[in-house]
Amino acid sequence: MDQISNKDIKFLDRNPPQFSEDEASRIAHDLFDLTGDFRPLKSERDQNFRIRSGNGEGYVLKLSNAVEDPGVIDFQTQALRHIEQQEPALPVPRVILAKDGASFAMVGDGRGTQHIARVLTYLPGVILDEVTSTPALWNSMGKIAGRMDLALRGFFHPYARQEHPWDITRCAELRPHTYHIADALARQNIENVLDHMAEDILPRLKSVRHQVIHGDLDANNTLTDSDQPGSIMGIIDFGDMLFAPLVAEVAIAAHDAGVANEDLIESICTVAAGFDSVLPLEEEEIDLVYDLVLARFAITATIIAWRKVMTPDQPDYIHESEEPCWVAVDNLLTTGRAQVRASLRRICLFPPYCPIEGADDAPDDTVRLIARRRQVLGARLSHFYSQPLHVERGRGPWLYNAQGKPLLDAYNNVPVAGHCHPHVVKAIARQTAALNTNTRYLYSSILNYAERLVSLLTGDLSVCVFVNSGSEANDIAWRMAQFVTGQRGALVMEDAYHGITEAINDMTPSNLKRGLAPHVQTLVSPDPYRGKYRYGEPDLAERYAQDADRAIVDLTRAGFKPAAFMIDTAFVSNGIPDVPDGYLAAVTKKIHEAGGLLIADEVQAGFGRIGTHMWGFMAHGLIPDMVTMGKPVGNGYPLGVIVTRPEILDAFVEETELFSTFGGNPVACAAGMAVLDVIEDEGLMDNARLTGDYLRDGIREMMPRHAWIGDVRGRGLLVGVELVRDRATREPANVETNRVLDLMRQNGVLIGSEGSHGNVLKIRPPLVFRREHADILIEALDRSLAAL
Ligand SMILES: Cc1ncc(COP(=O)(O)O)c(C=O)c1O
Repeated sequence: MDQISNKDIKFLDRNPPQFSEDEASRIAHDLFDLTGDFRPLKSERDQNFRIRSGNGEGYVLKLSNAVEDPGVIDFQTQALRHIEQQEPALPVPRVILAKDGASFAMVGDGRGTQHIARVLTYLPGVILDEVTSTPALWNSMGKIAGRMDLALRGFFHPYARQEHPWDITRCAELRPHTYHIADALARQNIENVLDHMAEDILPRLKSVRHQVIHGDLDANNTLTDSDQPGSIMGIIDFGDMLFAPLVAEVAIAAHDAGVANEDLIESICTVAAGFDSVLPLEEEEIDLVYDLVLARFAITATIIAWRKVMTPDQPDYIHESEEPCWVAVDNLLTTGRAQVRASLRRICLFPPYCPIEGADDAPDDTVRLIARRRQVLGARLSHFYSQPLHVERGRGPWLYNAQGKPLLDAYNNVPVAGHCHPHVVKAIARQTAALNTNTRYLYSSILNYAERLVSLLTGDLSVCVFVNSGSEANDIAWRMAQFVTGQRGALVMEDAYHGITEAINDMTPSNLKRGLAPHVQTLVSPDPYRGKYRYGEPDLAERYAQDADRAIVDLTRAGFKPAAFMIDTAFVSNGIPDVPDGYLAAVTKKIHEAGGLLIADEVQAGFGRIGTHMWGFMAHGLIPDMVTMGKPVGNGYPLGVIVTRPEILDAFVEETELFSTFGGNPVACAAGMAVLDVIEDEGLMDNARLTGDYLRDGIREMMPRHAWIGDVRGRGLLVGVELVRDRATREPANVETNRVLDLMRQNGVLIGSEGSHGNVLKIRPPLVFRREHADILIEALDRSLAAL
């Protein structure tokens, strides 16, 4: 037998007050100065009368159950007033004050019991329960719930924390009462739901947003206009309000929509989408909706079954609502959390769920994704690894695969500030919400950003052109160089990569399947480990630079003078060689003497990666004529920049229109600005130097154990590890390098490879990669090389 507490008695007690119509009309007249036509309304615990006054206005006289605490009534009154102030258009009842100015009065029922009497305005309309339910109606229900919770934000009252049997956060307390549920299968399901709530969901609920919510926004408490399908005309009955997780409001409304609709999942999603469109849900919240809807069904079913036993004389409609709860619980459990969550995420525009490691319901649809990818992106589009990596989430230096396994990202330089850095995300989101337009208008974000960017450069590099990618930046820089010099020849490094436009593809030997175009010449890579001139030999810089003389002569012979030398100042596609000091300065001098310009492609080296300087060209002691930026500029938001001298840009723009629809849009600039904030605030350039040196030292320390390691080099957090089969002959270990990439992945670390032989491990993590991450990488590399 149940132990029944006072609180239980309170909610099990269904005995409404029993005033006659005459008594009620006297109360209305004497205390509230209201007269008119009286009609009783249905209520479980209270006694309500509709009053139609002479002037046509409608009111409701509410005579509360004797056990009602005046504090509860005050809670409702204050909440309705708060809503009225915050959103006057929201259709909720207004509080009519008594003649003495109080919001309620006490009245005796002639049997010595006192009841609270109060008056609210009457809202017209029919309850949703009495009209055909449609998705439009449920969407509106979600929306109005969102509007109401927005209006209630910031409201509090001491009674908001009262104990309440329907409180979803206390559902575990109902667990001892489930034995009243007659159907064994339903009982088992409901017990499972309550147990899961207690173990997993209730602890999670503690950290989501809480506020005062209506708490019972269902089809009985929502009014519609039968002549205007889909419209909501009123919300009534604020008797279940409490301070609770905001998302519980969604689940309560959604659970009711589910009962009324054939397609339970669709109706849950429709309510959630409506709510989310007004009051955006957070990711943790959307992932709780499924369990909270289940919990609400479980609560309803348990309370109904319990009451049925304790107070058997209840109206039929209450008993009848028990079985639909069982059916809904069964339906939801059969459909499963993963499917409902996926639908909810899709409709509320959240990315696919990425579980925490070990979650039992992790989606494993990689095979299906590969097939779909081939279908719509073409069968030949390359991907990393023979078995492509399916990632759905990133944070800091970590990527998470579809099963939630964390992988240390030591490959990607685009998220320079770390994957999804909250500061960058926020900047993008806030600017997106405010304005996104183009450079033909005046707006401040582009100017703030351009000023900050040029303050980080040197010389007369003081004007910016904003585009959308590194390729585009290089393409425009190349066009400017040709225009300004009046020359057409291009110089690039062998194996260089500069992008994908037609012009830049010609300047990207690493892409070219056929030979070079006649207007392009390549310079040999200044690689003192494997190149023509090696460590220990004299005048490395000057000897390598002499190749520029040869290239200029060859170009001239082919009928072209050099317009520009475009150089990735980190030499990444050359295998990150240890470029001899003075080499680039010597080459630049020769190019300038031949009338060409220097374009420093900072797509790889820029933004502090090399640890000692913000830009690669600075480490080489140069001032280029143009600087191009891409990849890390926006931490993943598409953004490319060309910075040059005013006279170069002015001359070019005089000749041709220069406009990029998206280039330099306010959102891109907000992203760029936020990236600079993070680099500065988190000391990422210093970190690149310190962690990069630590990492190189750690890898060098394993050289006695692993003869595969021929050379370890690089600057800051750009590390090249050249693998050889024989340290004496330096035979490139290219096949083995690929194997190491796979082994590293198996060991939880992502890296890449580079160099003309593909035998240089490329380690180029987000700059939030710190010592503890370097230790993980070193250990994984140790294990991977041992397994070769
Ligand atoms: C040095 C360099 N320049 C230019 C580019 C092209 O940038 P995007 O892919 O943004 O066009 C890349 C891309 O990898 C690069 O590494």
